[in-house]
Amino acid sequence: MGGMTSPAIDRIQAALARVNDPEIKRPITDLDMVENIDVDDTGKVTVTVLLTVAGCPMKDTITRDVTNEVSTVEGVTGVEVVLGVMTAEQRSSLQETLRGGQAQREIPFAQPDSLTKVYAIASGKGGVGKSSVTVNLAIAMAKQGLKVGIVDADIYGHSVPAMLGVADTRPTQVEDLIMPVPTPSGVSVISIGMLKPRRDQVVAWRGPMLDRALVQMLSDVYWGDLDVLFLDLPPGTGDVAISLGQHLPSAEVLVVTTPQEAAAEVAERAGTMASMMHQRVIGVIENMSFLPCPHCGPEHRLEVFGSGGGARVASTLGARFGYDVKLLGAIPLDVSLREGGDSGKPIVESDPTAPGAVVLSDIAQGLSGRGRGLAGMQLGLSPTAKG
Ligand SMILES: Nc1ncnc2c1ncn2[C@@H]1O[C@H](COP(=O)(O)OP(=O)(O)O)[C@@H](O)[C@H]1O
Ligand SMILES: [Mg+2]
Ligand SMILES: [Zn+2]
Repeated sequence: MGGMTSPAIDRIQAALARVNDPEIKRPITDLDMVENIDVDDTGKVTVTVLLTVAGCPMKDTITRDVTNEVSTVEGVTGVEVVLGVMTAEQRSSLQETLRGGQAQREIPFAQPDSLTKVYAIASGKGGVGKSSVTVNLAIAMAKQGLKVGIVDADIYGHSVPAMLGVADTRPTQVEDLIMPVPTPSGVSVISIGMLKPRRDQVVAWRGPMLDRALVQMLSDVYWGDLDVLFLDLPPGTGDVAISLGQHLPSAEVLVVTTPQEAAAEVAERAGTMASMMHQRVIGVIENMSFLPCPHCGPEHRLEVFGSGGGARVASTLGARFGYDVKLLGAIPLDVSLREGGDSGKPIVESDPTAPGAVVLSDIAQGLSGRGRGLAGMQLGLSPTAKG
């Protein structure tokens, strides 16, 4: 350490404790990432920060945050951030800290004391807006102050990272622990597309390999203390639904459908599959429900894809399972919703007063009104749980 008095060093350390690692979301001082602090006679501070891996995509963020915080300390005239890289030994001790004694291959969300609500978003077929609904509900909840993560498990079109503006980001790995990718909206994401050796590689995800990938995204990713985890499932009733049912039966299922008869029918099958895997279907979201008439205004709804699909799926599933399955909302066709997805800035954030955003925010509000930690009560609510 340099020639300044120790109180100044204390204050610099306190400032550094306000800098979170952007991926791990904990203070860099707790993670042993600050290797050295040096202060010269003129008040210039040099901080050496150890990155978890060389070429860490977050290095600019860390440099900026360290500079900003240390600059606020009285007497500091300048800040230089020197970036180093952890040794293998330092990384494995960090991994141990992060695991906090938790066994490998254990899914934290499946533990009886987990407080994280897990919502699996299912649909009968692709293109109905499942991913759009997932990212917008997630961001709406993050805006309410909840800690939210998304697992993009759609093997056919892993589009969630692009919708969140992080299409080309690869996750950082600390030994065999994977950091979820932080996004501008505060939601963290891991996509099955990120687990491929190369992004352009075509992988036929099936059976055991798919099961391993799903378990990896749930247990080998450092999710921290999440309030809500969303899973964007592939459309249909395939292998992922079975794996999820086996590893995370406490996940609650939301079914997305369009108003069309045919779409409603396949959506019912997806819902039935979830129930067979002992997951509770808590609601149906109808998307692309209507187009607000450009002439008369929103009172006149143009039913481009027919009508009634959402209500039909909800009542059919409710009757089949013997409990109430609600239609949680009807999202209109909205150009800005598509644009938000294409540009990586989902509508609830980029255009929160747009009609589609308002409905999505209302649905999110209703879901989080059910409260954190309800997962543990699910057994009591289930009609089949008690004899
Ligand atoms: N309510 C809506 N209004 C306008 N476009 C929408 C709406 N919902 C989804 N889209 C667009 O439709 C396409 C398919 O949506 P996506 O969320 O990718 O569906 P899925 O995940 O079910 O395949 C995307 O281009 C998306 O932006
Ligand atoms: Mg999708
Ligand atoms: Zn009209």
